[in-house]
Amino acid sequence: MATATSSAIGWIVLLSALVLPIGHSAFRVGGGWESVIRMPTESGGDDGEQEIGTRWAVLVAGSFGYGNYRHQADVCHAYQLLKKGGLKEENIVVMMHDDIANNPLNPRPGVIINHPQGEDVYAGVPKDYTGEHVTTTNLYAVILGNKSAVEGGSGKVVDSKPNDRIFIYYSDHGGPGVLGMPNMPFLYAADFIDVLKKKHASGGYKEMVIYVEACESGSIFEGLMPEDLNIYVTTASNAEESSWGTYCPGMDPSPPPEFITCLGDLYSVAWMEDSETHNLKEETIQKQYEEVKERTSNYNTYNTGSHVMEYGDKSFKDDKLYLFQGFDPSNANLSGNALAPTMPMEAINQRDADLLFLWKRYEQFDEGSKKKTEALREITETLVHRLHLDNSINLIGKLIFGSENGPSILNAVRPSGQALVDDWNCLKTMVQVFQTYCGPLTQYGMRHMRAFANICNRGSSKDAMVEACLNACESHISAKWSSSSQEYNA
Ligand SMILES: *[C@@H]1O[C@H](CO)[C@@H](O)[C@H](O)[C@H]1NC(C)=O
Ligand SMILES: *[C@@H]1O[C@H](CO)[C@@H](O)[C@H](O)[C@H]1NC(C)=O
Repeated sequence: MATATSSAIGWIVLLSALVLPIGHSAFRVGGGWESVIRMPTESGGDDGEQEIGTRWAVLVAGSFGYGNYRHQADVCHAYQLLKKGGLKEENIVVMMHDDIANNPLNPRPGVIINHPQGEDVYAGVPKDYTGEHVTTTNLYAVILGNKSAVEGGSGKVVDSKPNDRIFIYYSDHGGPGVLGMPNMPFLYAADFIDVLKKKHASGGYKEMVIYVEACESGSIFEGLMPEDLNIYVTTASNAEESSWGTYCPGMDPSPPPEFITCLGDLYSVAWMEDSETHNLKEETIQKQYEEVKERTSNYNTYNTGSHVMEYGDKSFKDDKLYLFQGFDPSNANLSGNALAPTMPMEAINQRDADLLFLWKRYEQFDEGSKKKTEALREITETLVHRLHLDNSINLIGKLIFGSENGPSILNAVRPSGQALVDDWNCLKTMVQVFQTYCGPLTQYGMRHMRAFANICNRGSSKDAMVEACLNACESHISAKWSSSSQEYNA
């Protein structure tokens, strides 16, 4: 009896302690008790949700196709990590094409893994924006919390308040100044930065962290990202190098033998495996940046690795990661080493990963079979199309700037701290002109964005570009390549 009374008093004391600082908003009539009663052991784990606001996340996979398995695997994995960390499904917006788990090529139907020994990361991932709804328009509306601007999908947006924190993670192919999306158009850096400025102006968050994996991902922020938006960014690569796929067939570490595609990307698995092996109430943003930088460089070899970069506001790097990624109590006692290898991992640059997939698929088929012939045809068409893009852009440069200067002008890299291009509308126009006469740039062709940017930076006119494209792609214009961009997923 006495015990029961004192424990009842204990509960009341605990309740008042919890209820008072929360105020009336969390203490709803009916059902309010459950949300505030905590076991005494749990109370230490919650240092005031109301103080740190709500954690939001936006997770984007920009690619489609089984050869790009890894990008959607990364994003599904990130969802599971944040969910385990206590973020609520209603606060995590997932954008992915969703053509992997049930792809006929997937050896484990309905399952996606992001590590050779990894568990399923697909189950439970919300299908907020899939298929044709994974667009830049929707991404911008989601970030801005503008429900009426969203087209299709679940309608979930980042409806955040001034005290909230936002984590954005993107994984895909990219190119100088652009990130891929499974539906055109590409994401252009200047538009994305404008969206971030708008979000800041609307007072919709306290701090934001953005992680981006893509080739040349540094170019999205280089010379563009303001330092006064309370946004801290890291990217997988600098403005002029590839990022890397990993856990690829035939490499070490290798996926299970039935997989003919890479399971993850170097920078992406580096941050996620780091988060999963540390107490995120102790690990800082800075610490994760350092560890991910080291691992993504492939332990400073850079032979198969890239330079992780940071941009934006570096003043809150001492913040603990749980403020953005949540906290999984089962990781409370971990401090690295448990899962993550500390030796170089074999990796392949994003653009060659596509070819590796095509080759592995070719090798799978029986000698002399129709499927093998088709697989080989796809490889040769992909290679021929890549050559077409490389050659026509090279030729366009020579036609505009002369055969001697063309190549060096197109390839010139601006000093760090300077944006890729001054006039982003010019860049979009040049890309559009190119695609009109020379066919879709495709995923592979994004690598040539710097050439188009340099044509703009030299002040060349649209007319000059039209004329050069007409000449360079004359033989191409009526040919097969001008058909669909979906077909040449290179
Ligand atoms: C939301 O999007 C709609 C449609 O694009 C636009 O008209 C409106 O101005 C936007 N609202 C805000 C607050 O930006
Ligand atoms: C972590 O360590 C503490 C102290 O040794 C222990 O009480 C707790 O159960 C451990 N937590 C986990 C999740 O292993």
